[in-house]
Amino acid sequence: MTLSHDRLTKTLSVPFRYYECIGSTNDAALDWLEHDAPVGALVIADEQFAGRGRRGKSWQTPPGTALALSVILCPGARWLSRVTMLGGLAVCELAESLGCEDVSIKWPNDVQIAGKKVSGILCEATWSGERLCGAVLGIGINVRTDFQGSELAATATSLESAVGARLDRAQLAGDLTNRILHWQRRIETDALFDNWRSRLNVLGQLVNAGGVAGKALDVTADGALLVIDEFGEQHTSHVGELAPLARAGKIQ
Ligand code: BTN
Repeated sequence: MTLSHDRLTKTLSVPFRYYECIGSTNDAALDWLEHDAPVGALVIADEQFAGRGRRGKSWQTPPGTALALSVILCPGARWLSRVTMLGGLAVCELAESLGCEDVSIKWPNDVQIAGKKVSGILCEATWSGERLCGAVLGIGINVRTDFQGSELAATATSLESAVGARLDRAQLAGDLTNRILHWQRRIETDALFDNWRSRLNVLGQLVNAGGVAGKALDVTADGALLVIDEFGEQHTSHVGELAPLARAGKIQ
């Protein structure tokens, strides 16, 4: 089913702006945020030609293949790091509700199915001095992309490949938004953090987190990764790309 304003009107319970083609839904949402967007408002596009990923990477969204959406939220500043958490959690729940198995989060916030990335999350915020004006939770989900035979075949997957059936992106957008709003109302709770933490597939693994090689011990309440290196020194990684260590077993 094609994504359209009419279809989304039937599945979304929040104010939304739909674009057939846009640079980045995060940019449009940040702009809307500056012009008094209501909490929970959504920007969604069929195609994105200048989508942003984490750490300055681009995020391609060809037409007819994916979900590219951004939700406007206004958490208290101390809860900002939980916005990405709740996004990852909502995507996991969405995938599981479709029958997907082996759904997990690769820290900090890639959602994987059987170890392959199905979704990426980019949260951006605007500030007025010390005051947080709002946050934009940008989520990209591979829905229909067929990675077979591509250079990403070993690392990426899509919902339809995992489910083995055709999916309705408007319905997915509605379900996902409802899950985001559910967790946004519980942003201060242990339930959110515990649920997110329990889905991390990195704890206990040997990793290289932003240049620090060691064993991933735990995460802090604000989502940072605690890594202990081979000399027993503990490091806190707030941002970073997680690379598995080729040689396992060095650090116990
Ligand atoms: C990543 O894994 O690097 C994060 C990717 C985030 C992509 C989404 S698609 C919707 C929203 N708009 C953007 O420009 N980026 C996010």
